[in-house]
Amino acid sequence: MSQNATFTRRKVLKTLAAGAAAGAALGFPAIVRGQGAKIKIGLMLPYSGTFSIYGESITNSFMMAMKENAGKFGGREIEYIRLDDESDPAKATDNINRLVTRDKVDVVIGTVHSGVAAGMLRITKESGVMHIIPNAGLAQATGALCAPNIFRTSFSNWQAGYGMGAVMANRPQAKNVVTLSWRYAAGEESVKGFKDGFLKGGGKIGKELWLPFPNVEFQPLLTEVASIKPDAVYSFIAGAAGAKYMKDYVAAGISKNIPLIGPGFLTEGLLDAAGGAAEGIETVLHYADGLNSKRDNEFRLNYAKTFKLQPDVFAVQGYDAGLLLVAGLAAAKGDVTKRKEMIEGMRSAKIDSPRGPWRLSKAHNPVQDMYLRKVVGKENKNMGIAIKALDDDPSVMALCKMGA
Ligand code: PHB
Repeated sequence: MSQNATFTRRKVLKTLAAGAAAGAALGFPAIVRGQGAKIKIGLMLPYSGTFSIYGESITNSFMMAMKENAGKFGGREIEYIRLDDESDPAKATDNINRLVTRDKVDVVIGTVHSGVAAGMLRITKESGVMHIIPNAGLAQATGALCAPNIFRTSFSNWQAGYGMGAVMANRPQAKNVVTLSWRYAAGEESVKGFKDGFLKGGGKIGKELWLPFPNVEFQPLLTEVASIKPDAVYSFIAGAAGAKYMKDYVAAGISKNIPLIGPGFLTEGLLDAAGGAAEGIETVLHYADGLNSKRDNEFRLNYAKTFKLQPDVFAVQGYDAGLLLVAGLAAAKGDVTKRKEMIEGMRSAKIDSPRGPWRLSKAHNPVQDMYLRKVVGKENKNMGIAIKALDDDPSVMALCKMGA
């Protein structure tokens, strides 16, 4: 795509104040901007395509957390620059370069799609710009490409997969499971997590079925599932496509005999769109409906009042990205150039999240409780903790050499 076409897609919420623009353009030392200027935050998220619903949830709640906690960083003014990444990995490098090199943002929040996040990481790792990932679960972010300035407030794809695998390993009636997923980093890592949890219990994977992201031609694969007759199907399919998948699954006539299971992304935020097709689906995720904690109830009420929408896990992850950044800014007294203080503040933060309190691992990934959920009506109902304080895949953590 031409540069111009991309620029027209950018939605700049507020334009640069003339003085700050001139300062940045003249290349003044960062310290000058750090002390007086606004804090510039680039939101690189999907605002179109199958994951656009997530981009909106994350943006809403991130801004809500920043607003609620403005006093903790001296009420410094914030300028948000919003960029639609279209969940397109081919455009990731150009898009992140615009935010880092041209707009000179202090912090980047992004993104949802693991393939796009991979492109972002290469630039943020090299440039050292503060980067908080509010969704994408790719292993590299907190594995081989980990860095002091890169943080994640969501999950690794492996975590929810492993949780569901561990649940199934304890069910003697589920011996043969077929996986059916999008073939890209998120799907592959989710399936690996499932197998790591499930196979130790003596189960087997009947077949791995794949389709490319963001394809939605599920029918031929579901016909294959019907002929294999496994005990369950584990799927990483998400976003608007997830609702179609659940409907196709029911239409294929297999849902009564072959339960569909997955990481919570399969059903999260999609129960209205799926109609009754999601009923009874079990998933594992780091969030659920009906946690009924004081913190979660308060968050849900505020979110619903502000946005006239029910929050989902994506809203929680965006909110926590705000809380994590606030912890960094508070430690640096609002001065984004105090990088060491900011990083220390974030590393040591205990996030009082609606999902339950969590901390970061040494690789900067949340260590968190994973909930078993079951769709009942319009809820991903909490069925209890599947695994407490789950860290990331040990084989991935071993690849993280953080350095200074
Ligand atoms: C990812 O690409 O890492 C991803 C995307 C959507 C989800 C979860 C993970 O719902």
